[in-house]
Amino acid sequence: MQIIILPTADDVAHYAADRVADVVNTHGNPVLGLATGSTPIALYQELVARYQANALSFKGCVSFNLDEYIGIPDTHNQSYRAFMDHHLFEQIDIERTNTHVPLAEATDVKALEHSAKAYELAIQQAGGIDLQILGIGVNGHIGFNEPTSSFASRTRIKTLSKSTVEANKRFFSDDEFQPHLALTMGIGTILQAKAVLLMATGKGKADAVKAMVEGPLSSMCPASVLQQHERATIVLDEDAASEL
Ligand code: GLP
Repeated sequence: MQIIILPTADDVAHYAADRVADVVNTHGNPVLGLATGSTPIALYQELVARYQANALSFKGCVSFNLDEYIGIPDTHNQSYRAFMDHHLFEQIDIERTNTHVPLAEATDVKALEHSAKAYELAIQQAGGIDLQILGIGVNGHIGFNEPTSSFASRTRIKTLSKSTVEANKRFFSDDEFQPHLALTMGIGTILQAKAVLLMATGKGKADAVKAMVEGPLSSMCPASVLQQHERATIVLDEDAASEL
């Protein structure tokens, strides 16, 4: 696990954009693993800026997102598909058919399980993920792999923990339905990425970062599994690193 501490959140976004650009420019058929949440927004802004400056092209790139809510349609403005379209895909030259976000619109378990299996297969058929971008939840989750998730887990239905529902409340209005379930890549799926880059910024993440980096390998802090990945980089601003 390589730890990089940079002065500001902007520096973290620039570092992450350099890593993404490196994969996009050097791999024949680059496969990116992408994340949602507030943290990677600055990364996506930086990638859009580089594309607009003709410094980066995503033609031929394939992407797989970590997770999607169950219970709201793709067209809902808080769906992760809508998030990715808005913050990245619609602003760069990636082909829409090359962008994958777990399909989680179905309402019956069998169809969702089928969708999860198909997602795993699609990742394999694309040749695996070259670089997986991750954020971290305040409880140490990665994707929507909440504490107690098996380190061997694959894409599946997951119930969100209380603290995750609470943390994501800010995106939904008071009278609106807020999902409590998600379809998420598993920890085993994430570990298979050839390289992983976890971004964390702000004081709110300092405790989770400490548990991930200095704590024991434990399913109570799913991100701690990255201690075992041979090519995992953790890039932090000074606030997120303040408890180390
Ligand atoms: C969500 C996502 C995670 C993300 C986390 C932290 O729960 N499923 O992938 O890392 O939120 O988000 P933020 O960056 O907004 O703190």
